[in-house]
Amino acid sequence: MTVIGVLGGAGTVGRVAVDRLAGYGLGELRIGGRDMDRVTAVCRATPGVAVPVRVDLHDPRRLRDFCAGCQVVVNCAGPSYQVLDTVARVAVASGADYVDAAGDLAAIDALESAAPPELGERAAVFSAGLMPGLSGLLPRVLATRPLARLDGYVGGAAHISELSAVDALLTRGPRFGTALAAWQNGRIALGALAPLHDVTLPGFRGRVHAWPFLSAEFARLATELNVGEARNYTVYVTDAIPRALATAWADDGPIEHHVPAVVAAAEADIAATGPYYTLLFQAVPALGESTAPRRLLLRTPDSYALSGVVAAIATSEVLGGRVKPGARSAAECLDAAGVFARLSGDPLVTHAEIR
Ligand SMILES: NC(=O)c1ccc[n+]([C@@H]2O[C@H](COP(=O)([O-])OP(=O)(O)OC[C@H]3O[C@@H](n4cnc5c(N)ncnc54)[C@H](OP(=O)(O)O)[C@@H]3O)[C@@H](O)[C@H]2O)c1
Repeated sequence: MTVIGVLGGAGTVGRVAVDRLAGYGLGELRIGGRDMDRVTAVCRATPGVAVPVRVDLHDPRRLRDFCAGCQVVVNCAGPSYQVLDTVARVAVASGADYVDAAGDLAAIDALESAAPPELGERAAVFSAGLMPGLSGLLPRVLATRPLARLDGYVGGAAHISELSAVDALLTRGPRFGTALAAWQNGRIALGALAPLHDVTLPGFRGRVHAWPFLSAEFARLATELNVGEARNYTVYVTDAIPRALATAWADDGPIEHHVPAVVAAAEADIAATGPYYTLLFQAVPALGESTAPRRLLLRTPDSYALSGVVAAIATSEVLGGRVKPGARSAAECLDAAGVFARLSGDPLVTHAEIR
């Protein structure tokens, strides 16, 4: 019997990952977290498929016990920029494949820096969420021809959990990306772009603010696709979140003090437009006229829940043997067109268009 461990399976992302994994019928689910009442409640919602397990990922023995016997461990616990490769390392060493709804280049580097020997035979997929995740994967659907230019706009209004707010506050510095930069002719062009205030964009509600942020994920994508120019924007429906982040980053104190302000800023955004999230990618082919698609648009009412769907899809790909061994981001090892097709049929996707 295939056993899939879902750590953090009672969280915002994890609950949806559990629901989809149960729906795909991939095997028995082992749901882990510190609060047994919460994990038990999730197991009751998926009767006959899931068993609850108390585990704190910072307790090495409990974590080893949780991973033992799993074919794949799906991590939806965080904050991912603090957890890094803690769960991946134990999962892989116990003989399991690994999928992380978050975890970025820093986590991949950490795992590879002293890789467990089992990584030669096991797949470890990081950034299997929306951003990072779909933000680096879906643009590849447009790259069936060489591209002169690729633009990405990802954002909207979403509740932010306290744990995710810590991650948002930690994503600062060149390891994660460069504000106001573009990718031009094979290098980062600092200060090339300015924020777009009060603009309308396809798929976004009303007027929005688009902040240029060349994420490490988008820069890697541009390098791999050999795109002449790449512009990546994070889109906010008000300036509440950029202001909360700027205030936190100007303060030398512990970032945890700023978590309530980030959570409140996200609620202010939802009050302005209602919850929604959009991924919009636009491409210009290198060779002038082409019948290749130029625009991909995907919308969801809940970006966190959709991250859970992506983690579940990544898990089914790993279990299906379609992901090679080694540590990689989901954007680099999943089939973009295949994931887009699966998402298009998911109830959490309200609009999916390629043209
Ligand atoms: N890639 C993306 O687009 C994307 C999108 C959204 C979120 N994320 C990331 O996904 C992660 C989860 O976010 P979320 O909003 O779902 O958080 P959440 O709602 O707070 O859920 C976190 C879950 O992890 C469990 N957990 C926390 N600390 C734990 C520990 N030490 N040991 C075991 N379990 C623990 C929690 O249960 P207990 O408290 O009971 O232990 C809870 O079930 C975060 O790292 C976030 O940044 C990524």
